Amino acid sequence: MKGIILAGGLGTRLYPLTYATNKHLLPIYDQPMVFYPIRTLVAAGITEIMLVTGGPHAGHFMRVLKNGKELGLKHLEYAYQENEGGIAQALSLAEDFADKKSVAVILGDNTTDADIRPSVRDFKKGALVFLKTVSDPGRYGVPVFSGDRRSILRIEEKPSRPKSDFAVTGLYLYDHRVFDFIRELKPSARGELEITDVNNFYIREGLLNWSVLDGFWTDAGKFETLYLANHYWAAKKGVIP
Ligand code: DAU
Repeated sequence: MKGIILAGGLGTRLYPLTYATNKHLLPIYDQPMVFYPIRTLVAAGITEIMLVTGGPHAGHFMRVLKNGKELGLKHLEYAYQENEGGIAQALSLAEDFADKKSVAVILGDNTTDADIRPSVRDFKKGALVFLKTVSDPGRYGVPVFSGDRRSILRIEEKPSRPKSDFAVTGLYLYDHRVFDFIRELKPSARGELEITDVNNFYIREGLLNWSVLDGFWTDAGKFETLYLANHYWAAKKGVIP
């Protein structure tokens, strides 16, 4: 399976930190943020990656990642997203790279120490989303479960009244149909093509599976979560209690 890291957007929630560089190159303890999703993919055996980015600092990635060899990649490709048209729009740029095969997609500001290798190995068709319980689900995509909790009826993006305490994390496995679904999307109220709408397409087809991430997970796109991620990884490496 190939991997796609989505690292576009302007990082406005982190101004003034992102005036001078791209959000995904800010440090999480001793490494640039984008190293974490790359390492998650490499640990799952995925060594062919496309990084989608954009904005005024896109060129900084090449200085940091080069050809990806230092991180264990066999192949690293870059795509440039012209406008901040949303996560699904960024993903659409990877269609040729995916070459009609399944892909693992990670948002560039997501960091986890969970092992997704078994899910990658066993993935056959449809889509798989990774969930994690959070204290503030209203800031994420939130699954609405059936009464017996065996299936997800729909996913709501940043609901004011979340119907579960799970977040849909920014790690996804998709079969090749994902690009057909993206073509059918309409921009949301915030003017973006939403990944949650893609996942809802799969739900309607009865093809969305889910798994709970076994480990630490957070995005690092806001001051609180950037701080939380720094704290977690520094503690894991034994430098703070
Ligand atoms: O972190 C998990 C959450 O990520 C999910 O629970 C939500 O369902 C999903 O919509 C997303 O929510 P955010 O509001 O946190 O997404 P954000 O706009 O911060 O974008 C997250 C990453 O996606 C960002 O670090 C880079 C990439 N991205 C985003 C946009 C808007 C792009 O590559 N291009 C874009 O145009």
